[in-house]
Amino acid sequence: MSVSNSDNWITAVMALRNARQVVVFSGAGVSAQSGIPTFRDEDGFWKRFPPEQFANWRGLLQMAATNPHRVAEFVYNVISPIAAAKPNEAHLAITRMEQYVSATVVTQNIDRLHQLAGSTRVLEVHGSLFDIQDVSTGKKIRQFQHQDLAAVAALLKEYMDMQRSILSLLNSLRQFYSFDLNINYRPDIVLFGDDLPEPTWSDACRSAEQCDVLLSVGTSGAVYPAAMIPEYASAAGATIINIDPQPCDGYWLQGTAGEMVPRLVKAAWESDQNGDE
Ligand code: APR
Repeated sequence: MSVSNSDNWITAVMALRNARQVVVFSGAGVSAQSGIPTFRDEDGFWKRFPPEQFANWRGLLQMAATNPHRVAEFVYNVISPIAAAKPNEAHLAITRMEQYVSATVVTQNIDRLHQLAGSTRVLEVHGSLFDIQDVSTGKKIRQFQHQDLAAVAALLKEYMDMQRSILSLLNSLRQFYSFDLNINYRPDIVLFGDDLPEPTWSDACRSAEQCDVLLSVGTSGAVYPAAMIPEYASAAGATIINIDPQPCDGYWLQGTAGEMVPRLVKAAWESDQNGDE
């Protein structure tokens, strides 16, 4: 059982300060303070929308035929927080790391907040809600802006509030997603059972194997193969640091991302202190 204590803190600060290559492996916890719910916390997303029904395309399409209102509610609850979200102090501190070390972000999140904060090397191993994929070719064919997602969320809300029929909703959504039979566009996100995007996944594995430190921020490590990333880094000899309110393996720094990441970046590179908490 790992204990969060000042020894872990000093180890983390010194490891980062001496690192040449750092991987930041992020999960939903890094965006929690931006208003995006996590998946497996007490109030987690999967508690409201069971993944066996919602986290795969077949389940979603089957439900769309029998209970379109419930699917609209699910999609609204995915899109609305992301459309409104802004990077928090954790995202901004992760961006500042690039001034001091070669930093690669491997994120499981689809909210694009790392890029919005200014991180320049971000590997989205679960895709992005902002990219639209042509299912027949697998190619990204369009990139949404926040206002597009906000417009889609507003249309879904009107349908959920019975101010718009399902046909009117689908017709209005066609400007964003094509539903015509021959070409099917959909958000370029990875649901359960999907392959991870390439070369993104291979690049993420290589970054993990080459880094000196892997800083894991806000992930339960419950979903594979993404959860292999810290294991690849550890097997290659990297120091593994975990920032999470809940107990973690490795050097666990207990706390929220918004509080701990800025403090860690400051102690490692932005102050001449010896890194005491
Ligand atoms: N700061 C840091 N960590 C936090 C915060 C916070 N403010 N709030 C919650 N956490 C931690 C939780 O303690 C938990 O360990 O973030 C983690 C969130 O875990 P999950 O909800 O399981 O999210 P994640 O690990 O990203 O899930 C991985 O599962 O359902 C799939 O595709 C989905 O990418 C997702 C993957």
